[in-house]
Amino acid sequence: MKKRIGVLTSGGDCPGLNAVLRGIVRAASTQGWETIGFKDGFEGLIPEGGDFMVLDRKVTAGIMHLGGTILGTTNKGHFVAKSGDGGGMRIPDGILAQAKSVLRDLRIEALVVIGGDGSMTTALQLSEAGVPIIGVPKTIDNDLEATAMTFGFDSAVACVADALDRLHTTASSHKRVMVLEVMGRHAGWIALYGGLAGGGDVILIPEIPFDFEKVAGIVRAREADGCLSTLIVVAEGARAIQGRKSMHATASGEYRMGGIGEIVASEVAARTGKETRTCVLGHLQRGGHPTTLDRILGTRFGVKAVELIARGTFGHMVSYQNYLVRSVPIADAVHRLRLIRPDNQVVEAARAVDVSFGD
Ligand code: F6P
Repeated sequence: MKKRIGVLTSGGDCPGLNAVLRGIVRAASTQGWETIGFKDGFEGLIPEGGDFMVLDRKVTAGIMHLGGTILGTTNKGHFVAKSGDGGGMRIPDGILAQAKSVLRDLRIEALVVIGGDGSMTTALQLSEAGVPIIGVPKTIDNDLEATAMTFGFDSAVACVADALDRLHTTASSHKRVMVLEVMGRHAGWIALYGGLAGGGDVILIPEIPFDFEKVAGIVRAREADGCLSTLIVVAEGARAIQGRKSMHATASGEYRMGGIGEIVASEVAARTGKETRTCVLGHLQRGGHPTTLDRILGTRFGVKAVELIARGTFGHMVSYQNYLVRSVPIADAVHRLRLIRPDNQVVEAARAVDVSFGD
């Protein structure tokens, strides 16, 4: 009987997920293995017999350029329950037992979990419960300390740059201030890279609290200099020195970020008298075709995951460091955010070309 591995995509979707799946399937089939794809993240491990599709070269042909995930995904779901000891997340015992029995019955010898920090936390618990796990990091936010880059980030940045190119037209034609709110949660990577690539004049990121008066001052100074329009990029997690992060709790008890773009726009309008408009880019940043960089990184991550299985290096997560794809223990990777340091070279380069961070 052929060796059989499983794979699932978990958490928010992200350009490049299908490239990883295709990479895994091809590398696994070269080894003579079968690949089972569980549907809708960890949820596919719950029903009797599992909810899955067989992934082979045929099924995964022509998917690399597609956004999203052909397996479907779930954010949170049944595998995440708050534990009583201060809000930590644990897999409920019954769900864990069910998942293990599905994997055993299907003869799955290794499970590749493609997901972000929350999914890696779940993966780690499965690993500690004896399931042979390999992690593949995924997030457009690019905020995992254990890997220098995640696929999806470059595609999100390209989307932001494209949006700024488009907003530039209206900004200059109408001599307006245009504020673009972008994703990234507590990290400003998408705003920083997208803002720089798209020629943003002001970039506001969570790591550098800003001053409304400084931002307004930039708009006024540009006006005095004959630049009658200004592009402001705001990360959803950015906050004014005088204020808090803009977020609200959802019915499930989680919180959703957003709203800071409109706040910045109304403050700038009130302080400068300039006509100011807001655009919230939202999930456009997570959709669409992955860039070539993300297709290649995704493919390399998938291939590395299969190599780790072949070597029996379980409990590890694929990681990108110094242009090489390596791996790190999942236990060392979870709950470690990579934020922008104020002395970051890209921040310095942006300042050198007159980008203001509102500080
Ligand atoms: O982590 C990726 C991300 O897109 C964040 O940038 C954003 O805050 C969040 O997910 C949005 O999540 P949801 O799609 O669940 O609203």
